[in-house]
Amino acid sequence: MPRIEAFIFDLDGVITDTAEYHYLAWKQLADEEGYPFTREDNEQLRGVSRRESLNRLLKGAPISEETAQAYMERKNQYYQRYLKQITPANALPNVPEFLRAARLAGVKLGLGSASRNAVDVLQRLELMTAFDAVGDGYSVVNPKPAPDLFVWVAGRLGVNPAHAVVFEDAEAGIDAALGGGFWTVGIGAEHNVHRAHLIAPTGLAELDVIRLIQHFQAL
Ligand code: BG6
Ligand code: MG
Repeated sequence: MPRIEAFIFDLDGVITDTAEYHYLAWKQLADEEGYPFTREDNEQLRGVSRRESLNRLLKGAPISEETAQAYMERKNQYYQRYLKQITPANALPNVPEFLRAARLAGVKLGLGSASRNAVDVLQRLELMTAFDAVGDGYSVVNPKPAPDLFVWVAGRLGVNPAHAVVFEDAEAGIDAALGGGFWTVGIGAEHNVHRAHLIAPTGLAELDVIRLIQHFQAL
């Protein structure tokens, strides 16, 4: 019977929805450089690193390393312009309440995001202090689906992965968490998160902290 001591959350798609801003920023770059890129293509970028996102956008088109770096820098500038619009109202439904209830229940709270903009986004959401540990795109070398980031956050929380639940909306994130030996809750479209132990299609809005802990502790 696992004792649940920590929750670790992905950011984009779980705490807030920045996928549209990523799409608009990559789309601007793709249009300017003449690469075809659709909203459907953008779904393949969910949860993967900036570098891997560029690789998927290019679909094998060859470019120099210098150009790749310049493209990523430009996309990030476009993306950061959109981030300026974020306010606490951009947290997904029930997120602040869920985090508060978890803390009251004595659960440690971590964030594990592939994004190098995660701290900026958390500050704009006014949720920085809701977390006991924040891992972002600077914390580890190997991005999701490697388990490294979640393992790093669990280490900062002082919790064994077998006693922690990861909340993720992306296939790469669920695979990362499973690879690290965490319990998993898949958020959103089932085809992305079908390997999760539990699926919550509408996110934290449909979850109750105490019932969730009881669910995993009864396994
Ligand atoms: C993840 C997003 O959280 O962060 C990905 O789901 C994104 O779409 C990745 O590519 C990296 O983000 P950033 O902000 O470092 O470019
Ligand atoms: Mg995500």
